[in-house]
Amino acid sequence: MPTSPKSALIDKYGRHIDYVRLSVTDRCDFRCIYCMSEKMTFLPRNAVLSLEEIFRVAKAFTQLGVNKIRLTGGEPLVRSNVMTLVENIGSLPGLDELLLTTNGSHLEALAAPLKKAGVTRINISLDSLQADKFKQMTRTGDLQQVLRGIEAAVATGFKTLRLNAVILNGINNHEIIDLLEYAIRLGINIAYIEEMPLGEVSDHARLETTCSNEDVRKIIESRYALTPVVMKTAGPSRYYQIESSGTRVGFISPVSHNFCDTCNRVRVTVEGRLLLCLGNEHSVDLRSIMREHPQDEELLRETIRAAMDIKPLRHYFYDKDAPQIVRFMNTTGG
Ligand code: 5AD
Ligand code: SF4
Repeated sequence: MPTSPKSALIDKYGRHIDYVRLSVTDRCDFRCIYCMSEKMTFLPRNAVLSLEEIFRVAKAFTQLGVNKIRLTGGEPLVRSNVMTLVENIGSLPGLDELLLTTNGSHLEALAAPLKKAGVTRINISLDSLQADKFKQMTRTGDLQQVLRGIEAAVATGFKTLRLNAVILNGINNHEIIDLLEYAIRLGINIAYIEEMPLGEVSDHARLETTCSNEDVRKIIESRYALTPVVMKTAGPSRYYQIESSGTRVGFISPVSHNFCDTCNRVRVTVEGRLLLCLGNEHSVDLRSIMREHPQDEELLRETIRAAMDIKPLRHYFYDKDAPQIVRFMNTTGG
């Protein structure tokens, strides 16, 4: 098995890729206003990787030295039999961390089984603590169900839990402190995320609603002292400790900050496109490789290894000459 350090994935700028985010479905039980349009057409079944194919991809990456995998969506927990996939990935040799991003709607029942299957950390989206606002932002979500899910995850005990809040001016920017204080009460982390321009959304003009993390931080600092913490796997986030609490606050700024020089990650969409960068269209089709060569694991690994050569140096969100990214977040994996 090619697990020697030499076979680790390194791109042409010398960045080591040890983290993969796998989207396991494009479907979701929510329709968040910044993520989806009201009427979505989802992919036909045969366009989507089977659970077995997703597992093949995960296995190939771990054999290439990836030690951290995140399962995302859409909403990963709405895919039927997803727990079998989680268990299988959770038992792959060489995997140190199995992470999950979820909207929390299924966590009440699944928090304990997820931990048992090997999930170490969970990010849970939560943009509002007001039932009507939560409904406005998710269009179909039920706040109480999500809060019960979050609290079940807290009771189960993961290495870390993090709330993800997308802050939109004029919509939920008045809840920045309430969301923080909810995280502090539960002793979990929270990250504020700037809206990214992925896909066309119907009901708000993004350049007007985008709330910069600078603004969020100023609001928090008017109440709480923020001490910077150095985290080597922070990626696009900068973290701060809230004094005398177990809570860290992260600021994720895909748009206004450039973290690309330390990027250690790639993504695989639910259609099996290996995306080398969230902000670029460069991709390699792993689905056709797997379907045309169902037994050839070496070819799959070689395709992944070769793909590292086209990982772009940086993203170009909002650059005036850059092409608009037409992918929606739900097919890409958050
Ligand atoms: N911009 C920023 N964040 C987004 N998410 C989904 N779509 C967008 C977008 N366009 C967030 C979700 C979730 C995380 C995975 O990504 O709220 O917390
Ligand atoms: Fe679903 Fe997450 Fe998109 Fe909301 S942001 S619609 S929860 S995939």
